[in-house]
Amino acid sequence: MENIVSLKNIILEFEDSERILKNISLDIKDKEFVTFLGPSGCGKTTTLRIIAGFLEPTSGDVFFDGQRINGVPPHKRNVNTVFQRYALFPHLNVYENIAFGLRVKKVPEKEIVKRVGEMLELVNLMGFEKRTVNRLSGGQQQRVAIARALVNHPKVLLLDEPLGALDLKLRKEMQIELRRIQQELELTFVYVTHDQEEALTMSDSIVVMKDGIIQQIGSPTDIYNEPVNAFVADFIGESNIVNGCMPKDCVVEFTGRRFECVDRGFSPNETVDVVIRPEDVKVIPADKAQLTGIVESVVFKGVHYEMIVDGVDHKWVIHSTKAEPVGAMIGMTFDPFDIHIMKKTEEE
Ligand SMILES: Nc1ncnc2c1ncn2[C@@H]1O[C@H](COP(=O)(O)OP(=O)(O)OP(=O)(O)O)[C@@H](O)[C@H]1O
Ligand SMILES: [Mg+2]
Repeated sequence: MENIVSLKNIILEFEDSERILKNISLDIKDKEFVTFLGPSGCGKTTTLRIIAGFLEPTSGDVFFDGQRINGVPPHKRNVNTVFQRYALFPHLNVYENIAFGLRVKKVPEKEIVKRVGEMLELVNLMGFEKRTVNRLSGGQQQRVAIARALVNHPKVLLLDEPLGALDLKLRKEMQIELRRIQQELELTFVYVTHDQEEALTMSDSIVVMKDGIIQQIGSPTDIYNEPVNAFVADFIGESNIVNGCMPKDCVVEFTGRRFECVDRGFSPNETVDVVIRPEDVKVIPADKAQLTGIVESVVFKGVHYEMIVDGVDHKWVIHSTKAEPVGAMIGMTFDPFDIHIMKKTEEE
């Protein structure tokens, strides 16, 4: 697959501000659903605005279809954006909101009728043409915003937290809708969210960011199963992260005990982050375990119970289909391949 958008060594500093993007390089493939994922303030929107052309990088290059497009204004880029606040025209009806961009471009009326019709069908809003947008639900307004952006036939659609304002159930429905639209039209979607579950379910590829630096790029399964550092592991799914040390290959010490693991290649006694997912902590009888703790809380989460277990040095988060009584002393154990050893990230 060809790259449709490439960023090369992008640095961004706003006036009188520190560096916001610190050398971002990244390739987005044609027809791919790519998600920028990271905590608030990490630079997701800023990166999107650079791709859209609303913001010029301090240094570095932006490529579209192999051509450098630095300095090209937004309306001349084959890109459209859907913002979190959809900014629809409240006094116009659904039809005219979608048609707006085409009217500005003086597209012939016949063509407008055809293209708006296609869009209404695509986003399932047939019959809503005459409604003013302030009489639509949040989900319907979102559909209008998507239709309005797609009616121009961009090659790339940028979406900045487009579902942020919707309730959970509607959000899930729209996630499936968006994925369907992207696949049906064979477009490239660049999607921004700080919701890891959304990123995991929708994307072909996820770009995890922190403080203006890309931490990891990979498929959802890569990122979930092989996070490169403790930050990614923690951000992408709740994790237990404890300080550890590797006395030798395949042996790790944490909370004062020794465990077998499958990692090699660390220096003798190197300090490491040990990452264990809540679903990988096995509950066993306390008298059979080298690690024990007291159950502090139990919450039913729909599919599993989430227990917080005080293991003296660390409060363990455990997901299990079986609840243990609060106050009970339990034992915990791990399969060696469920213990993930990560190099300590150097703080800047
Ligand atoms: N116009 C601006 N002038 C100065 N600083 C800015 C400006 N716009 C954004 N920033 C700063 O740049 C950083 C990155 O902002 P950005 O909007 O890209 O974050 P984000 O990852 O989209 O966060 P969120 O999830 O909250 O939307 C923030 O620290 C923000 O305060
Ligand atoms: Mg943002």
